[in-house]
Amino acid sequence: MDLTTRYLGLTLKNPLVASACSLTGSPEGARKIEAAGCAALVVRSIFEEQLPGAAGADPTAIRAHLDNLRAIRQAVSIPVIASFNCRAHGSWSAFAREIEAAGVAALELNLYDIPEDPTETSASIEARQIDLVRAVTAATRLPVTVKISPYYTALIPFCHGLQAAGAQGLVLFNRFMQPDINMETGHLRFNVNFSRREDLRLPLRWTAILRDALKTDIALNGGVHEADDALQAILVGANAVCVCSVLYQRHDANPVGEILDGLKHWLARKGYTDLDAFRGQMRTTDFGGKTGFERAHYVKTLSSAK
Ligand SMILES: Cc1cc2nc3c(=O)[nH]c(=O)nc-3n(C[C@H](O)[C@H](O)[C@H](O)COP(=O)(O)O)c2cc1C
Repeated sequence: MDLTTRYLGLTLKNPLVASACSLTGSPEGARKIEAAGCAALVVRSIFEEQLPGAAGADPTAIRAHLDNLRAIRQAVSIPVIASFNCRAHGSWSAFAREIEAAGVAALELNLYDIPEDPTETSASIEARQIDLVRAVTAATRLPVTVKISPYYTALIPFCHGLQAAGAQGLVLFNRFMQPDINMETGHLRFNVNFSRREDLRLPLRWTAILRDALKTDIALNGGVHEADDALQAILVGANAVCVCSVLYQRHDANPVGEILDGLKHWLARKGYTDLDAFRGQMRTTDFGGKTGFERAHYVKTLSSAK
């Protein structure tokens, strides 16, 4: 079974990419991810506050991040993608070139942004983010993929803007870490909130809708825990399928191996010999009119609940 996948101009042996997290942040972790079967990995992000030029930037930490990228790249033979997590561009653009020199295959830009400025409109936030993407793509020869949140009113035009700014891929979606409150101490609790399989539905819908609207690659990210989830992602047109929470929740097993086995068995059972023959066969436009993923049988679904 041929699971070969093209993502950001790279040829991946299968569609599974380990998304940015602490498990991808060291050479040992990266080796485990590769041994489990992932075809690429995104190294844990460096954050805007840590980037050159930022008030709290520590040159030693920046150097350590670059050394770590180099060590991770040397530890594995799968493509390594570096990740920045930021809101606006600044004096750190040159840093993109240093990351490039570390030998990574691509850059992932995480537009993690909680709009807190009461005077900044949605249009100016989007323009600022598109500018940032333009600055990053101009600063590097590496392919750039942009990880966005689902919280945009008009996702299609915004993604068109990212594409025009040079993004070669989009990662749908980033997950915000949402604190809650410990009612005994009155303090915020910053527990990591892992995804559940139900979380797949949001990126699934938007991958289906955006697939035909864009030329960029799409990596579906969110709620992929089993082979069935990865199959659905590919069916609606995802190039790559990212996994994160399941790597933590089932660290004593090999969820990546299980997903890959599941993909191969399902495709063989349905008579496919390669993944590309299957990719993108169910997209929004295939439903005709406005009855597909756009509204996803809204009325029927709601009125059928007992
Ligand atoms: C412990 C942990 C650390 C993470 N660190 C990062 C990070 O450094 N950069 C980033 O872009 N996303 C980070 N994420 C988000 C994941 O890359 C991923 O987008 C998210 O968990 C959704 O995928 P999932 O449903 O498979 O977990 C992190 C997630 C977890 C659980």
